[in-house]
Amino acid sequence: MEHPDSILIIDFGSQVTQLIARRVREAGVYSEVAPFQSAQDAFDRMQPKGIILSGGPASVTADNSPRIPQGLFEAGVPILGICYGQQLMSAQLGGNVVVSGDGGEFGSAFIDIHSSCALFDGLWSEGERHQVWMSHGDKVDTIPPGFTPVATSVGAPYAIVADEARRFYGVQFHPEVVHTPDGAKLIANFARHVCGLTGDWTMAEFRNTKIAEIRAQVGTGRVICGLSGGVDSAVAAVLIHEAIGEQLTCVYVDHGLMRAGESEQVVSLFRGAYNIPLIHVNVEELFLTGLAGVTDPEAKRKFIGKTFIDVFETEARKLGGAEFLAQGTLYPDVIESVSFTGGPSVTIKSHHNVGGLPERMDMKLVEPLRELFKDEVRALGRELGLPEIFVGRHPFPGPGLAIRIPGEVTKERCDILRKADAVYLEEIRRAGLYDTIWQAFAVLLPVRSVGVMGDGRTYDNVLALRAVTSTDGMTAEAFQFPGDFLPRVATRIINEVKGINRVTYDYTSKPPGTIEWE
Ligand code: XMP
Repeated sequence: MEHPDSILIIDFGSQVTQLIARRVREAGVYSEVAPFQSAQDAFDRMQPKGIILSGGPASVTADNSPRIPQGLFEAGVPILGICYGQQLMSAQLGGNVVVSGDGGEFGSAFIDIHSSCALFDGLWSEGERHQVWMSHGDKVDTIPPGFTPVATSVGAPYAIVADEARRFYGVQFHPEVVHTPDGAKLIANFARHVCGLTGDWTMAEFRNTKIAEIRAQVGTGRVICGLSGGVDSAVAAVLIHEAIGEQLTCVYVDHGLMRAGESEQVVSLFRGAYNIPLIHVNVEELFLTGLAGVTDPEAKRKFIGKTFIDVFETEARKLGGAEFLAQGTLYPDVIESVSFTGGPSVTIKSHHNVGGLPERMDMKLVEPLRELFKDEVRALGRELGLPEIFVGRHPFPGPGLAIRIPGEVTKERCDILRKADAVYLEEIRRAGLYDTIWQAFAVLLPVRSVGVMGDGRTYDNVLALRAVTSTDGMTAEAFQFPGDFLPRVATRIINEVKGINRVTYDYTSKPPGTIEWE
């Protein structure tokens, strides 16, 4: 699709390329990420008003390292090169790049501004010093003709370079990460001030673009979508339903490991408010029987993943098969996987939402949220009219309560945990804290403790409460509840939930902990 009021981001495999897209979206400008191998095609198709070259793991000093077609430098559009992107501009435009003799610069650094630059409009001035985030082993040592140095750091004599006549800018640091405090404004300046874009792009347009893409991808094929009760799969399903209507069927696998009232909410929303075809499979017994005696966290996860696939496969077969599988995969799910645009990023680990399904069922994936972060998915959900109870819901893991019950999972323990969790969340909502917390839940520990209730001795289960703040689930901090909140919740749980006589609070951050206990 032609999209002239846009910026083309050319990906060289940086782990944070999508953050560039996110910053451009935050500036109200449409952008697309294309792997460097198809840069020319993307440029011809979009006719963008600007180009951003991402960072990447390669070294321009190496043979066969990624390049872009030389013609893109002659197309008359502004270009911002970031890290590898800056080095690439130097290499392709007549400058020179070397491997840093001192090993490079990693982490926080300061740059000194030596002259003004269009990127700094309303932001930085000559003579100032600003914090940025660096991560580079190579550096530019000769800038190309036409460029002037604008800022320096200890490790990068050309921390920022500019060719104002051609509107080419190169930054050695990463303006897209939050550790460069003014980075988002620098990118917004490039998009609006340098490229002249108005910044009126909205989530409504993202919705329209995605709907057109889904229609083009799916054609007349049938799509099935696994609903988990979380916001991601719900938003994906509603968006796809808007695009292709009855060609979509949703499957909700109720494994008996959901929170209190969750299944009823999902089913009534999809059948009632949206009238989206939904198969509700109740397979609690299958899951709980299979989990009997299983205590190892990975064994639990593997059993649940595999059984989920079995159930899904059976249901899909009953439908007569489907060519496409829809998933609510988000960017943080793929951020450490292979660069999703097919660029050359290094694989650190592979994440799967419904791991193994596409291979086993020979289906193609429809993943319309793959470029988005959680808060953007929520904004899209609101745009699609999903009720707040869905949109604002805390994340919930696919394996459900099973990974919040260390040790053996039984129906009795699930029921105890469901009740305690419901009390905890009710108190959080009542205190007006639900939306400031990323995720809050209870964990039923495989520990019993002695207590005294009335005149009698008790010997019952211990519960841990967890609440964290986070921006994307990749790192997290324990939430600090105000004064009497935790004692009040502990008292209510011990009084109201039979089987629990002691409540503790988990103060571990991530890292070194993880958010879930298993
Ligand atoms: P951890 O425990 O790894 O969790 O710090 C990070 C975020 O991911 C969620 N999580 C999962 N989500 N399937 C999911 O869909 C899973 O298997 C899974 N395991 C963890 C977790 O709830 C947190 O939001």
